[in-house]
This record gives sequence, C-alpha cells and structure tokens, in this order.
Amino acid sequence: MSRAVCPGSFDPLHNGHVEVITRAAGLFDEVVVAVSTNYSKTYRFNTDERLAIARETFASLPAVSVVPMGDGLLAEFCREQNAGVIVKGLRSGRDFEYELPMATMNRQLTGVETVFIPGESRYLHLSSTLLKEVASLGGDIAQFVPQGVMDRLGAGGDT
Ligand code: PNS
Repeated sequence: MSRAVCPGSFDPLHNGHVEVITRAAGLFDEVVVAVSTNYSKTYRFNTDERLAIARETFASLPAVSVVPMGDGLLAEFCREQNAGVIVKGLRSGRDFEYELPMATMNRQLTGVETVFIPGESRYLHLSSTLLKEVASLGGDIAQFVPQGVMDRLGAGGDT
C-alpha cells in the first residue's frame, strides 16, 4: 500500500493544486492532502474553510483524504500518517530551487522521499497569492479555482 502526502496551505486551493493532486492519486494507492496552518499567519480562508473546500473538491476521488496538519514538522506528520512520500507540484526552476533543500532535509530527518510532479502548462501561472490579489481587486477567478472557493468568496468576489 503506497501512501503519499500532498501538503500545502491551500489559501485557496486552485486548479493547479487540483491537477497535481489528481495525478498523484493515479500514482499512489492513497493520497493525504495535508492542510497546514501556521498560527502566526493570517489566512484569507480559515482552516475549516480550506479543509471543506478540499474535501468537496476531491469527494469523487476515494483515494484522496483531506486532513489538517497544523504547524508541525512535515516529516513527522508523514511518519504519523505512515506515508513514505511527499508530493509537490513544480511550476518552474525557481520552485525546484526552493523545494530541493526541503526535500533533502525531510529525507534526512525521517527518510520520507519527495516526488515532484511538473504542473500542466496551462496552470503554471497560478498561485494562491496572485489569485487572492486578482479577486480582491474585483477580478473573476472562477476559471482558476474549484467551485468551493467561489462559494466562500464574499459577495461580489471581494476578498
Ligand atoms: O502552500 P505552502 O504555504 O507553500 O505550503 C508550505 C508547506 C506546508 C508545505 C510548508 O510550509 C511546510 O513544509 N511546512 C511544515 C514545516 C516544516 O516541516 N518545515 C521544515 C521543512 S524542511
């Protein structure tokens, strides 16, 4: 039984995340989407909302579960979850340079491996930060995010 963890803050989940997690579900028997919360950070969507959006989005994929991760060490979380692999999506070489030291650190901490999935080209420009900015300025982000995100945006799409 292979189990992978897809970690992130998902504030909000967007279609690039969804695509990578869906592909991960084709590679591993079980995929745990780990929704992190750094308690010193302010989020646009609170933990319960981020969990609910992910659960709704992946409801049709039985191999995918969604759990809160808090602000602990990812490598320890993976050990607790009995997951031998972390899956991360890559949009660019810059993402890889950012991720590589963490992948090495996580492996040296507990032996958990990191598998990178290159993002689909049509999603490479997406980031949660950019989408929040567009939405806060009145832009329509419906084509870039799951319906659950749109359902939880304020009236008129204001963030
Ligand atoms: O979506 P994000 O905010 O880029 O997700 C970042 C996340 C949750 C993957 C990252 O913050 C993380 O790994 N947090 C766990 C803390 C940890 O283990 N730090 C040491 C990394 S080597």
